[in-house]
Amino acid sequence: MTKEEFETLLVHGARCDDDKLAALTVPIYQTTTYRQGELGVEPPYDYSRSANPTRRVLERQIAALEEGKHGFAFSSGMAAITAIFFLFESGDEILIPKDLYGGTFRLLDVHLKNFGLAWRIIDTTDAESLNGAFTARTRAVLLETPTNPLLRVSDIAEVSAIAHRNGALVIADNTFLTPYFQRPLTLGADIVVHSATKYLSGHNDVLSGLAVINDDELAESFLMIQKSTGGVLAPFDSYLLIRGLKTLALRMDREAESALSIARWLLSHEGADRVYYPGLDRDPGNPIQSRQASGSGALLSFELNGRYDIKAFFAALRVITPAESLGSVESMACHPATMSHAAIPPEMRAEMGISDRLVRLAIGIESIETLKGDLAHAFDSSMKRS
Ligand SMILES: Cc1ncc(COP(=O)(O)O)c(C=O)c1O
Repeated sequence: MTKEEFETLLVHGARCDDDKLAALTVPIYQTTTYRQGELGVEPPYDYSRSANPTRRVLERQIAALEEGKHGFAFSSGMAAITAIFFLFESGDEILIPKDLYGGTFRLLDVHLKNFGLAWRIIDTTDAESLNGAFTARTRAVLLETPTNPLLRVSDIAEVSAIAHRNGALVIADNTFLTPYFQRPLTLGADIVVHSATKYLSGHNDVLSGLAVINDDELAESFLMIQKSTGGVLAPFDSYLLIRGLKTLALRMDREAESALSIARWLLSHEGADRVYYPGLDRDPGNPIQSRQASGSGALLSFELNGRYDIKAFFAALRVITPAESLGSVESMACHPATMSHAAIPPEMRAEMGISDRLVRLAIGIESIETLKGDLAHAFDSSMKRS
């Protein structure tokens, strides 16, 4: 699909064919149940946990945007990921990347362990080393590319080819780039999942998760899991997400352009020791990133130089908000060691490369001058005077 076709799909793709009044905006079908006609004749909708017209529009829309066949909407990214793990059985093993999202790691490590689903950490950025990683129990590889907060890039096509040779599925968490920049199903992944709470909705006002599957049989099992586990997206939240999606291209273009500009600016700033952003030519992930994605997104991280005080840096930010999430129109700053990755023991964090001086920025749509001005002020205010 070309960029132009994708942009048209964003604006015009969400249509409610069930609506007899032909409303241009998708109606919110705020109903749990449906009046049934003749006994024994299957109605189009019977109960909103199974299907709802507003949610269905969104599910078709995300499937089309990811160039996949079957879409599913959930009440959060974690609800979607939980449902995906229900595809597996006790005794199965999932291979996971080093800096996997903490919530997904906790789900596997604390909860699913009790049901016999095993996991093993591998370096998904090193496709060669993957060849020896599979056992007879391995059923799937979970990918996040790029990762958060270190923006490590994995080769989706290469990992998918190796996984398929070993009889395993590839699940790609596409939260950070969205289908606007990267479409994992077209590169060989089997399942795409999103925390749609982030860029897809884009306004910090709706928790949501989406999944897309191509294979009909797998999708049928997954539909049953969605219906049985019940963590579906509410009609109003589906509507909010449909609305947010219309401006995805505008937001992603603006945010990614600013992220690249800030990453370059940080490279020449004495307050930043290391800058992580796959859109930078010198970033180790750049060659793969440029091949498999049309943009590098709006997340970047840097190490604050030791001559600056990390607490004072965060306290001095006036526009960029210290907050846990990302992907919204408002720029946000995260200190992974005390916020998103605080639950991980310090030694393990250090092993993962997440230092106490790491700052992660999620760039929003404010003017680039405002954002650089805010960062410059935070650097100036946090320099240690000795
Ligand atoms: C990559 C990734 N996947 C999944 C999730 C979970 O999504 P949610 O918070 O919508 O449940 C998050 C949340 O931050 C995330 O960053």
